[in-house]
Amino acid sequence: MRRRYAKVSIIGAGNVGATCAFRIAEKGYADVVLIDIVEGLPQGKGLDMLEATPIIGSDARIIGSNRYEETANSDIVVITSGVARKPGMSRDDLVLTNKKIVQEVVAQVVQYSPDCIIIMVTNPLDAMTQLALHLSKFPRSRVFGQSGILDSARFRTFIAQELDVSVEDVFTCVLGGHGDTMVPLTRLCTVGGVPISELLPKEKIDSLVERTVKGGGEIVALLKTGSAFYAPGVATAQMVDAIILDRKKILPCAVRLDGEYGISGVVVGVPVKLGKNGIEQIIELKLTPEESASLRRSAAAVQELLKVMQI
Ligand code: APR
Repeated sequence: MRRRYAKVSIIGAGNVGATCAFRIAEKGYADVVLIDIVEGLPQGKGLDMLEATPIIGSDARIIGSNRYEETANSDIVVITSGVARKPGMSRDDLVLTNKKIVQEVVAQVVQYSPDCIIIMVTNPLDAMTQLALHLSKFPRSRVFGQSGILDSARFRTFIAQELDVSVEDVFTCVLGGHGDTMVPLTRLCTVGGVPISELLPKEKIDSLVERTVKGGGEIVALLKTGSAFYAPGVATAQMVDAIILDRKKILPCAVRLDGEYGISGVVVGVPVKLGKNGIEQIIELKLTPEESASLRRSAAAVQELLKVMQI
């Protein structure tokens, strides 16, 4: 395969995987390989996307396959394979089913792309990222997960709607696990540089936080047959972008902390610098005692899942 372009493989050609693949293909800087266990699914979606390239003006090559040989020497592998939740389920309910799938997938990824960066998307996100880190034996700079970009995007959307401003002018910061224990730091939330506390009453901010925390569930309840995929797909593509283009972007990602924020050996979401080497720096924000306690609660919830997975 030509190496003029970067190579990104996406495992799981379902809703999130396909959305992410198409977004990357549109950028035109990477060839994309879509992998799935279902025969014909990655091939069909890959061919459909390839046939869109003349229209979207991209020379990316996109192929779909059921064979990991096609992923050999990928720069980045995005793992979305797994079961999505249905109404009434929490992300944590997926843990044992998705553990088996992630185990199988990571072994293949490591065999064919020993130097790649792995971006985890499968839920429960923090636990699955920790599992991939454990199985791959890669450094934490090369195995991390997408969650905070999505959670922040949801919060930004709700704030922009409330204030009738552009979503681009809203900055938010969400830490912690990708679930009910996530920690939106309203203190650092600004609109055009102005603190949100000067623009909205506390009760309103609290209700937007609540909607953000339950944002995934809101969509599951509407879809009934699966979970969100447009926003998760493009959030993951933004991480790919930061790495391939070495943008050194500060983005919230799920990463194993080794003493930062007073937490050791557990994956949770914090802001990091993302560039060509993956996570190039963990940004340590000064937290209030309450915020610190919330982050520790989040890490404890992830630790419970690690016990369930026995890792
Ligand atoms: N190897 C490769 N692909 C697999 C495997 C496996 N062992 N097991 C399942 N898959 C594939 C399925 O065939 C399916 O095409 O993973 C895909 C998952 O796609 P969807 O069911 O559409 O789920 P999606 O909405 O994309 O969510 C995937 O991301 O956001 C998380 O919670 C979500 O864990 C879920 C994951």
